[in-house]
Amino acid sequence: MTSTPVVCIDGPSGAGKGTLAMRLAKHCQWHLLDSGALYRVVGKACLNADVAWTNEEGAAAIARTLNAEFVVGDREVHVWLDGVDVTAEIRSELGSKGASAVAVLPRVREALLARQREWARFPGLIADGRDMGTQVFPDAPLKIFLTASAEARAERRYSQLLEKGESVSLPRLLDSIRDRDARDSSRSISPLVAAEDAVTLDSTTLTAEQVFSQVTDLMASRGLVGRTSGDRPDTSDSAN
Ligand code: C5P
Repeated sequence: MTSTPVVCIDGPSGAGKGTLAMRLAKHCQWHLLDSGALYRVVGKACLNADVAWTNEEGAAAIARTLNAEFVVGDREVHVWLDGVDVTAEIRSELGSKGASAVAVLPRVREALLARQREWARFPGLIADGRDMGTQVFPDAPLKIFLTASAEARAERRYSQLLEKGESVSLPRLLDSIRDRDARDSSRSISPLVAAEDAVTLDSTTLTAEQVFSQVTDLMASRGLVGRTSGDRPDTSDSAN
């Protein structure tokens, strides 16, 4: 499909994919595909155009002609839609709803396939999502399936929201994570499953640093980057 090396990072929400993908992309100076942001911005573009999230043809037409720009920032990928910064809006609760709604539409997924593959450019790509290894880059030389217990993911999300000053209920967060897992894993198109040749990493008891170092070691062992020992970011934050 492509000779550009691609490292796929798939897994459920809250496992630490975004943090890992960003650190890897910066470390290797490779491109970064945040595929969730792509689904989120399609949801937002549908809202702008008054196209219902259930309107498959309408949403697919929007996905095909999307005028969006993605810029990797310090902590997240910033997104512009038709020249307007929609970063905060697409990462809101409504943004998540829109993304999951349009993500179940086969024609939308098909329309985004070619767009996502265009991200694979020299010198390499870190691709973060749910189906990077199974559908979008099936020939990738390294696929990571990053997971963590629902409890650990809920606790990380809880701390993040508290940090932002939002008051939340931990049991409610846990319920919503379990619901989302069930929906993502059971949908008929591109369900959340590990690719057969993926390496599964469970980050429940690992720090972000430990996950990062395991993945850079795997990249080195497959000849994708040089050995990185002694060349790692000096951080000790949690895996999300
Ligand atoms: O990764 P993020 O939480 O931003 O993704 C938002 C939603 O987009 C997910 O809950 C999922 O429904 C959908 N998605 C997807 N396939 C991807 C990435 C995201 O279906 N590759």
